[in-house]
Amino acid sequence: MAVDTAYQRRGLGRRLLAAVADRARARDEQVMWADARESAVAFYLACGARVAGEPYVDDGTGLLVRHVVFTEISPACLSAGGSEATG
Ligand SMILES: CC(C)(COP(=O)(O)OP(=O)(O)OC[C@H]1O[C@@H](n2cnc3c(N)ncnc32)[C@H](O)[C@@H]1OP(=O)(O)O)[C@@H](O)C(=O)NCCC(=O)NCCS
Repeated sequence: MAVDTAYQRRGLGRRLLAAVADRARARDEQVMWADARESAVAFYLACGARVAGEPYVDDGTGLLVRHVVFTEISPACLSAGGSEATG
C-alpha cells in the first residue's frame, strides 16, 4: 500500500488499513501480515502491528523489509483517521 507523498500523515494510510481489516474480518481471518520497508514500520506499529523476525532484503524490490503481523488493529486506526482524513 502507498499514499502519495503530498497526502501522507493525514490519516489515509489508517483508512486503507481499516478497509483491509474490514475485509479480513468479513472473511473471519484472524491474522494480517505485511512485509514493511523500514520507513513504513513506524506506521504499522502505530496501528498495532508487531515486528516478527529480523530485517531482510526483499528479492523483488531490493529494499530492506521487516515482517509485521497484526492480530488486532489499534483503535486509532480502526476509527479510520477521523476528521484528519477528510480535512
Ligand atoms: C506508510 C504509508 C502508507 C502511511 O500512510 P499515511 O497516510 O502517511 O499514514 P497515516 O497518516 O494514516 O499515519 C497513521 C500513523 O502512523 C504513524 N506514521 C505514519 N507515517 C509515519 C512516519 N513516516 N514516521 C513515523 N510515524 C508514522 C503515525 O503514528 C501516524 O499517526 P499521526 O500522523 O497521527 O502521528 C505512507 O507513508 C506511504 O505510502 N509510504 C511510502 C510507501 C510505503 O512505504 N508503503 C508501505 C510499504 S510496506
